[in-house]
Amino acid sequence: MPPVVALHAANAPLDRLGRSMHDLRISVMDRCNFRCPYCMPKDTFGESYRFLGSAERLSFPEITRLAGLFVGLGVRKLRLTGGEPLLRAGLPELVGDLAALPDVEDVALTTTGVLLGRHAEELKAQGLGRVTVSLDSLDPQVFRTMSGGFGAPAEILEGIDAAIAAGLAPVKINCVVERGVNDHTALALIERFRGTPVVVRFIEYMDVGTRNRWDRARVVPSAELHAAVHARWPLRPVAAGYRGEVAERYAFADGGGEIGFISSVSQPFCGACTRARLSSEGVLYTCLFATHGLDLRTPLRAGADDAALAALIRSAWLARSDRYSEVRAEVHAAGTEHKIEMYYIGG
Ligand code: GTP
Ligand code: 5AD
Ligand code: SF4
Ligand code: SF4
Repeated sequence: MPPVVALHAANAPLDRLGRSMHDLRISVMDRCNFRCPYCMPKDTFGESYRFLGSAERLSFPEITRLAGLFVGLGVRKLRLTGGEPLLRAGLPELVGDLAALPDVEDVALTTTGVLLGRHAEELKAQGLGRVTVSLDSLDPQVFRTMSGGFGAPAEILEGIDAAIAAGLAPVKINCVVERGVNDHTALALIERFRGTPVVVRFIEYMDVGTRNRWDRARVVPSAELHAAVHARWPLRPVAAGYRGEVAERYAFADGGGEIGFISSVSQPFCGACTRARLSSEGVLYTCLFATHGLDLRTPLRAGADDAALAALIRSAWLARSDRYSEVRAEVHAAGTEHKIEMYYIGG
């Protein structure tokens, strides 16, 4: 496979597998308004769980400064994640600062959607390009099982409508599919959004973190789901929008729009993975399944200059050889070690 070279940044480091750094996923908030069992199971993340204190989280100027350094090293796409990013007070202000960085081509947000109705217009006004909303089922009961008892499909649909009205396009929906839990409601989700510009994407249930009691038997391989959809509404493949796109895209043959499959378990896409992740306390991770990261907050707060911080980021990227999804089976066979939790690193 040819190296994923960013053509735009002469300064862009390549990792040990020849991959450039193109996306930065910034977790701005470790807290969430949901408790999806596949991410933040209630029994672990209950009342007494200690989330970060506000002084432990990077401030907006700190995030913006670091993001600017990542952009200098080749990043062109910024995605704000959480936990739930809209729980971070004043988020639109941060969006404004990030959107104003030179060379940033795409600023996106991944959210539960609960607070979108309140913030969509301001986010758009500050320069947010688009949103991805998590919505695992339209069935209220199934939805609550998947969200840990919080929220309802109706309020998420309102949030999606607000995003569309604000022009945050394209709105995408992330639906994590778990066998025996919500897979029987997948086609209804498609039916609801067929014929609209909203893109539903099904995500294979992943073994992120250490607490979600992942069981491979509950993964519905995308090929199986694709076959079920195709039997009802014929699909044709659509070329990836960019090298390394996570979702495999399909269009309805009758022109009813588009859907996607994110198949990190059955068809790993590490070979083209150009994503870096920054946690809300300023730790850089080079993989969603990382076991450790690089603390950038300590040098940042100790007064390191831009060149020193950029050199740290660059060397972490140069040393990167992550390809967890491609070696998942071996890691499991060897007995799993500590992994970063999804809510903390933001998916
Ligand atoms: P677009 O920019 O719209 O293409 O979406 P995206 O794939 O960047 O963002 P999104 O947050 O919607 O990603 C969807 C989901 O795919 C994530 O929440 C994860 O569950 C999964 N995912 C994204 N990136 C990676 C990755 O690098 N590795 C793995 N294993 N899964 C990923
Ligand atoms: N497997 C697959 N997707 C997950 N997400 C969170 N945890 C998991 C998991 N275990 C998804 C959420 C959200 C995105 C940020 O990550 O549904 O859309
Ligand atoms: Fe669910 Fe996302 Fe919150 Fe995790 S961060 S509990 S996946 S809504
Ligand atoms: Fe990238 Fe790690 Fe996901 Fe592979 S498992 S695609 S290296 S984040």
